[in-house]
Amino acid sequence: MNKKIVVTGGAGFIGSHVIRRFVSGYPEYQIINLDKLTYAGNLANLKDIENQPNYRFVKGDITDVEFIDSFFNKEKPDNIIHLAAESHVDRSISNPTEFVMTNVLGTVNLLNAAKKYWVGNYNENRFYHVSTDEVYGALGEEGLFTEETRYDPHSPYSASKASSDHFVRAYHDTYGINAVISNCSNNYGSHHFPEKLIPLAINNLLNNKSVPVYGKGENIRDWLWVEDHARAIDVIFHKGKSGETFNIGGHNEWKNIDLIILLCKIMDGKLKRVAGSSEKLISFVKDRAGHDIRYAIDSSKLQKELDWVPSLQFEEGLEKTVDWYLANTAWLDDVTSGGYLKYYQDQYVKR
Ligand code: NAD
Ligand code: DAU
Repeated sequence: MNKKIVVTGGAGFIGSHVIRRFVSGYPEYQIINLDKLTYAGNLANLKDIENQPNYRFVKGDITDVEFIDSFFNKEKPDNIIHLAAESHVDRSISNPTEFVMTNVLGTVNLLNAAKKYWVGNYNENRFYHVSTDEVYGALGEEGLFTEETRYDPHSPYSASKASSDHFVRAYHDTYGINAVISNCSNNYGSHHFPEKLIPLAINNLLNNKSVPVYGKGENIRDWLWVEDHARAIDVIFHKGKSGETFNIGGHNEWKNIDLIILLCKIMDGKLKRVAGSSEKLISFVKDRAGHDIRYAIDSSKLQKELDWVPSLQFEEGLEKTVDWYLANTAWLDDVTSGGYLKYYQDQYVKR
């Protein structure tokens, strides 16, 4: 069946992988990438598919009520996959209000538009909200986050995502909006903005700069290949029951310091450096405020109900990621210099 899907935040890291998957995998769908192009949005992430007949980019801000209303009125999309967000925890600590605006109000604006324009068709039209495992707070040494784990966010970022999840559930329960939510663990892979741990470390090691490890590097994250996340979103979008939540994760827990040491070894090999030279660039720095100690996801519901499993072993995925960055130093240089902002943002005006 034909669908007209708006993907918000499609110029970002995960959004660009979701767009690529849907544009290539479903030529019968029309995919509109709705993105404000903040510092994190980069249309170069979609160069390979930008001329596909079933793809379009529209520049727009989900916090702008008038724009969202006229966009829905004009485009009449029948599905939303909502990824647009402020996504970096450290930025949320220095500027929490921006996270409330985009992550909470932006989500509510989209829900209001769906409520208004889909009236009479709530069952057919789907609102897919992409969220994070950080809403569940922090785990001790044992246990996993399940879909029943109580929300307990600690950072302004995770509090804003938790709030947006609650609004999506409230619009489902109150108005009958057809909604699904997924909560995923840390993603890694190509086109990841180099403020996040893995691409930041790759970029710094490449340039012989120190790699900042917060605290003692003992915090644990559960890493998932970004293309496996995009595949999970595809499956949940098509087969997940309305009102349901799915946890997505890689069963792949790593202490930050162990991950960075592995990355240093891979970089030494790829750059033909003396073994151990990259590790010398590790620098332990002041810890992140309110730093959650451990995240780990139980994705058995998704595996059992919708037959999804992660496809890549972490060591293989990390090596592929390093290979991508080494083959795309122009992308990296453009992002770190800010060149991409000028080039791409000047080309589009808000419609
Ligand atoms: P990102 O920061 O790379 O991209 C965010 C995108 O949203 C950018 O293209 C940006 O321009 C756009 N955007 C921001 N504010 C906007 C606004 N007001 N209007 C329109 N567009 C706007 O983020 P990401 O890492 O790709 O994460 C995407 C989503 O997935 C987020 O909702 C995030 O919470 C969630 N998530 C991320 C991870 C992860 O590991 N990165 C894990 C689980 C869930
Ligand atoms: O768990 C899912 C979340 O993963 C997503 O919802 C977020 O959008 C995404 O940014 C990510 O959040 P994290 O805070 O876990 O990712 P980040 O890459 O910022 O940090 C990963 C870990 O590495 C974390 O424990 C903090 C640490 N860290 C991070 C940076 C940037 C460092 O030690 N040094 C660093 O320089």
